Amino acid sequence: MAQSTDPQQRAAWLREQLNRHGYRYYVLDDPEIPDAEYDRLFRELQALEAAHPELIAADSPTQRVGGKPLDAFLPVPHRVPMLSIRTETDTSSGGAVAFDTQIRRELELSADAEPVEYHCELKFDGLAISLRYEQGVLVQAATRGDGETGEDVTQNIRTIRSLPLRLHGAAPEVLEVRGEAYMSRPDFERYNARQRAAGLAVLVNPRNGAAGSIRQLDPQLAAKRPLSFFAYGLGEVQGWDLPTTHGALLDALATLGLPVCEERVVARGAEGLIDFHHAVAKKRDALPFDIDGVVYKVNRLDQQRQLGFRTREPRWAVAHKFPAQEELTVVEAIELQVGRTGAVTPVARLKPVFVGGVTVTNATLHNADEVARKDVRVGDTVIVRRAGDVIPEVVSVVLERRIPDAPAFQMPTNCPVCGSQILRPEGEAVARCIGGLYCRAQRKEAIRHFASRRAMDIDGLGDKLVDQLIEQDLVHDPADLYALDVQALTSLDRMGTKSAINLLEALERSKTTTLARFLYSLGIREVGEATARALERYLGTLEALLAADEPRLLQVPDIGPVAAAAIRTFFQEPHNREVLTRLQTAGVRWPTATAQMPADQPLAGKSFVLTGTLESLTRDEAAERLRALGAKVAGSVSKKTDYVVAGRDAGSKLDKARELGVSVIDEAGLLVLLGK
Ligand code: IVH
Repeated sequence: MAQSTDPQQRAAWLREQLNRHGYRYYVLDDPEIPDAEYDRLFRELQALEAAHPELIAADSPTQRVGGKPLDAFLPVPHRVPMLSIRTETDTSSGGAVAFDTQIRRELELSADAEPVEYHCELKFDGLAISLRYEQGVLVQAATRGDGETGEDVTQNIRTIRSLPLRLHGAAPEVLEVRGEAYMSRPDFERYNARQRAAGLAVLVNPRNGAAGSIRQLDPQLAAKRPLSFFAYGLGEVQGWDLPTTHGALLDALATLGLPVCEERVVARGAEGLIDFHHAVAKKRDALPFDIDGVVYKVNRLDQQRQLGFRTREPRWAVAHKFPAQEELTVVEAIELQVGRTGAVTPVARLKPVFVGGVTVTNATLHNADEVARKDVRVGDTVIVRRAGDVIPEVVSVVLERRIPDAPAFQMPTNCPVCGSQILRPEGEAVARCIGGLYCRAQRKEAIRHFASRRAMDIDGLGDKLVDQLIEQDLVHDPADLYALDVQALTSLDRMGTKSAINLLEALERSKTTTLARFLYSLGIREVGEATARALERYLGTLEALLAADEPRLLQVPDIGPVAAAAIRTFFQEPHNREVLTRLQTAGVRWPTATAQMPADQPLAGKSFVLTGTLESLTRDEAAERLRALGAKVAGSVSKKTDYVVAGRDAGSKLDKARELGVSVIDEAGLLVLLGK
C-alpha cells in the first residue's frame, strides 16, 4: 500500500501516517520519525490534494488550518447541557471532608461502609470545549456559552495539533468529548518572546491566550497561538458502551487518541482527597500549564447517576481551588531601587494583597521600558501575579479604573540616594547611577556582597548591620570593615559587647580566604564565581591579574572581551587599587596558586633582570607584566639570567651582562616581548 501509485490510496496512506506520527509527537511526546520526514510526507499529501481536490478529507492533517475568516461564530445548541461544577470555597482540608460526608449521606451509606472511591483530577485553567465526533471524525467544536448554547469554533479547534481529527480504532457513532482547551506555559512564553521581538502586543497570561485564540475569527491567526487540550468528560454518546468508572472512561478516551492528563488518581475517602490536594499544590508550579485547583469526582458511574444533578451542577463533583495567582491591587508609589552595580530598578509599592499564598507589598517593574510598555502609574489599579517562588509581577493596568490626569512615570535624571546622574547607555535597558561607591545604596550592596557566604563569608554581618555601618559613615569600602573595633561597633543599635566581639572574630576568620573568593567578593562587573575561579586557576596570583592586559585576559577560558574590559577598568581605577592594598595590609590573604595558563606562557621559565629607567612604564609594572607572561624577574645578573632589560642610564648590571654574555634588550624590545 505504501508504494501504491493510486492517488486515492496514496492519500489515505499519507493521512494515516501523518495522523499517527502527529499523535506520537503531540500527544505521546515520543516521535518515531524525524521532523524532516514528517514534513516530507506532509508536503507530498499537500501536492496530491492540490492535484486531486476531490481527495481532501475532513481528517486530513492539511486541513487543520483551513477555511476563511468568519464574520461571526454560529450558535451550537448542546444536546447534553454543559454543566459547571460547584466550587468549594473552603480551601482547607475541611472542604474535602465536607464533600465526602455529603456524598456518603446522599448515597445513604452506613457508617461502616467502604470509603467512597473518587477520581481526582487537575482543574485546568483554560476554556471548556465540547468536541463532536461522528463516525470517528471531528465534525464540530463548540464553546460552553451559557451551557445550553455555545459557539461554533470548529475551525480554531482543528488547529490544536494534539487533537485527533479522526479517532483511533473502532469509533462510536456519536461521541461528544468535553474538556479544556489551554495554552501551555512554554507555548505562552514562546509566543510572547516572538511578539516582543516583533514589537507587538504580548499576552497577559496563558488563559487569556487560550481565550483569544479560540475567539479568533481568522483560523490562520488562531493557528499562531498554539493551544493544547485535555479531555475530562462526555456529552452526547451513541453506539458506545460506557465503562463503569470515570477513571476507566478517561482511559478509554486516551485509547481513542484523545489527550488525557496523566496527573490523575483514584483516591479513597476524604483522606485520599486531601493527599491529592497536597501533592498537587506542591507540584503546581512545576506543571507545564496553569491550573487553578483540583476536581474531585465520584468514580463509579452508577453512583454518579444515583447522585444526579442539582440545577446546573452535578452532585458528584466538586472543585477545590488553590489560592489565586493573580489579584487586583493599587499602586501606592513607584520607587527606585539602586543595586550593587548602580542599576536603577523601578519598584511598585502596592497596597498589600494576598496572592499566590502570600501577602505581596512590592512588585518589580524591571526597567523604564517595562514601565512605559505597561504604562503603570501611581494610583493605578493593577493585576499582580505571583506564581510559586517567582518574584511578584505587575501584569497589567486596569485602565478603566485610572484616576484622571494621573501622570506617566518618568525615570528621574538623578539618583534618589546620592544625587549622581543616572545614565542609560544607548541600546541598553538598564539605567545606572554613576555614583559608584559614593552612592550609599551601591555601597550597602557592595558590602553585603563582599560579606556574603560565597564571597568573604563574614558571619553575622547582616543587612540591618550593613545599613547602620553605612548610614553612620563607619564603612565606606570593604577595607573599612577590617578597621572596625569594639568601641565603634557597640555604638550601633542592638550591638552589645558580646555581639561586637563575635563579629570581630568573624571578620578575623574571613581574612583567610582564596584568591577566587576574594576576586568574587570585589563585585567586579562580569566577574561571577566561575570567572573568579578561572582567573585564579589561570593567572595564579593577584599580581599576575593586576599586570594582565586585555589580550592576556582573553587567553583565560570563558573570559570574553566584555569581561576582560570590565576587569581592566576595575583594576586601573586608583581607588580600587588602594582598597586592594588596604585589604592585604589588613591581613586578607590566600594560598598562592600555581598558574596554569592554558595557552603556553610565552616567557615561561625565562629569567629577566631590569635595570636603568624605562620610559613607558615603571620597573615594577614591567616586572608584573613579565611575571604575568610566565617570566621570573630577578634582582641581580647571573649566568642563569636570560635577558637583561637595559633602560636609560643603566649601570653595573649592564656591564655584568656584557661580561657574562647575557642577551641585552632595550625598552622597545621589552615591549615587543610584552606583546605591545
Ligand atoms: S468536569 C459536569 N473536570 O472547570 C462536570 N471540569 O465549572 C463538568 N474544568 O469551566 C466539568 N478542569 O471547563 C471538569 N478536570 C476537570 C476540569 C474542569 C477544568 C473547568 C471546566 C469548567 C469549570 C467547571
